[in-house]
Amino acid sequence: MSNHTTAKTKSDRAAWLQGPPAACSVPVNHVDHAWRLVLLGAPGAGKGTQAELLTAQLGACHLSTGDVFRAAKNSCNCELSPAMTQAVAAMKRGELVTDTTVLSMLKERAGCLSCLGGFLLDGFPRTVAQAQALEDLLKQQNVQLDAVLSYELPIEQIVERLSGRRTCSVCKAVYHITGRPPKKPDVCDHCGGQLIQREDDRPESIRVRMEAYQKSTAPLIDFYKKLGVLVEIPAHGSPEEIFERTLKILKPKTKQAAATGECCCCSSHKKA
Ligand code: AP5
Repeated sequence: MSNHTTAKTKSDRAAWLQGPPAACSVPVNHVDHAWRLVLLGAPGAGKGTQAELLTAQLGACHLSTGDVFRAAKNSCNCELSPAMTQAVAAMKRGELVTDTTVLSMLKERAGCLSCLGGFLLDGFPRTVAQAQALEDLLKQQNVQLDAVLSYELPIEQIVERLSGRRTCSVCKAVYHITGRPPKKPDVCDHCGGQLIQREDDRPESIRVRMEAYQKSTAPLIDFYKKLGVLVEIPAHGSPEEIFERTLKILKPKTKQAAATGECCCCSSHKKA
């Protein structure tokens, strides 16, 4: 199983980004409650931005499937496998990567799901088949989701957010040229890495991504409503305002877990 991040400490997420046998450089520290959350929302709604803020506050690791594909593309000195080559091409066009590729990538990294620090899944699941597979994997690992946070924002604001986005080529921190600019132009505040524009933030790819979201990912809202874990969060306002909204929703859940005597790192059994 991977090592993990601690609250206020940024993990390199090596176990997640590179897959086994890589291990994260930041060790797992005790957290009061191991949060296990899924972040849902259209491309550009702000999931990655909230995941960064939540990671710093809750200590749970930010597990983005998009970051895994981008890391494979950028860091592999070798030739990519045929599945990964197809995945990278699909991403560039704004289409979804096939369920088979995504699920085999996730299964390799299943240890991250039972990590004692918890997790924030961002960009996965994205289809009902993926959501069902995640349920099965979590059962096997004997862990449960605390909540599925669905960030909701009108399309015009989404396009504005995506076209101004810049991402650190090294640590993947997310900025916006006007809404969340770095202190020094094109340089990451965290690690000094160069900021770049994602290939799929071009207008033609943004349109395809929105269509894929409506067709394949929006049905997950009903899927998780039926499981009783969906929480809808308006995603307008500043990142900090949305973050406060999110924490307000999560706080009572910690109290609930304490009152029912659930284990702080695994809600599937009671505290000793
Ligand atoms: P992925 O990397 O998951 O991208 P996405 O879901 O399209 O989401 P984004 O990262 O674009 O947006 P976000 O909601 O995280 O917004 P952010 O915080 O950056 O996936 C990319 C591709 O990989 C997919 O298209 C697909 O091809 C493939 N893929 C990945 N997972 C897959 C899966 N499971 N199955 C199949 N295919 C898969 O914010 C956006 C911008 O807005 C930033 O500039 C930010 O600074 C700014 N911003 C954020 N919040 C605010 C705010 N409150 N006010 C003003 N600006 C803000």
